[in-house]
Amino acid sequence: MPLLPAASGQAPGKVILFGEHAVVYGQPAIAVPVTDVQAIAEVEASAPGQTGLLIDARDLEQHLQFDDLPDDHPLAAAVRSTCRVLGIEAPTVRLTIRSTIPVASGLGSGAAVTAAIARALSAYAGRPLDDAAVSELAFEVERIHHGTPSGIDNTVVAFGRPVYFVRGQPPERLRLGGPLHILIGDTGASSPTKTAVSDVRRMWERAPAQIEAVFRAIGEIVRQARAALETGAVDRLGPLMNENHAHLRTLEVSSPELERLISAAVAAGASGAKLSGGGRGGNMIALADSRNAEAVTAALRQAGAVKVISTVVHSEGN
Ligand code: PMV
Repeated sequence: MPLLPAASGQAPGKVILFGEHAVVYGQPAIAVPVTDVQAIAEVEASAPGQTGLLIDARDLEQHLQFDDLPDDHPLAAAVRSTCRVLGIEAPTVRLTIRSTIPVASGLGSGAAVTAAIARALSAYAGRPLDDAAVSELAFEVERIHHGTPSGIDNTVVAFGRPVYFVRGQPPERLRLGGPLHILIGDTGASSPTKTAVSDVRRMWERAPAQIEAVFRAIGEIVRQARAALETGAVDRLGPLMNENHAHLRTLEVSSPELERLISAAVAAGASGAKLSGGGRGGNMIALADSRNAEAVTAALRQAGAVKVISTVVHSEGN
């Protein structure tokens, strides 16, 4: 058996700071990478007697034979798309996937796993894909599961940097005027983004003028937040987060669990808090600083957060 070189790839999680949902309708959004959680893919030489590509999904405790998976299986789709772009057959290797990014909770887990697979397989093939190609691949796979993704998830996890994002336009890099301390509280309720996105669409179809006004108001908040982030005017961000959340409530994508965590964070001293991502469950974010981070974390746990991630975001990713 030839000794094949091992290769690996990884990608961080992400959170949307401002603009979710409205971004699907052309408004801007801002998202940042969360490097405290990562998806990692490793390619190793096949074991003796192995046929075809074997996927070892560690967190799911699943060993999957690539050839047996349906086309729309997310891991198979990631492998297939990557091989197509590289113009190769799926190699006979063991592909191990691990991720510390909570799934189905707005942290970009699906896009990060695809990005990690694309990086590992392309490195193994001796032709590592660049960030733009990785982002495109992750977008393609997201579309299978998510219907009409705006493209923000794949962009942030592939580039690993804060972005100002408008659907259909090249992502703009966002340079932060200072570090940002974000606490991410997980409600523990997983909620498919696709359902929330299609419910918002139905609401928009029923009352387009009214809902478009909400989208535009969110877009304006995002533009103001961009200016505050770039100049390091952190004190302006908390109130903008609260305003953005009020609009998301109007879009009916909050939930009692999210509301409980958001109220607890603000009561404990966070200068702002909001849901992040598709909503209805998943994660919320709170803006903290070194003086109140511990108290806000404790309050989030007390209010039922199953996990709290504390992350400091810098311009280059964190
Ligand atoms: O739940 P997430 O993190 O995948 O974010 C979804 C963000 C939406 O704006 C609701 C949808 C999208 O495709 O941008």
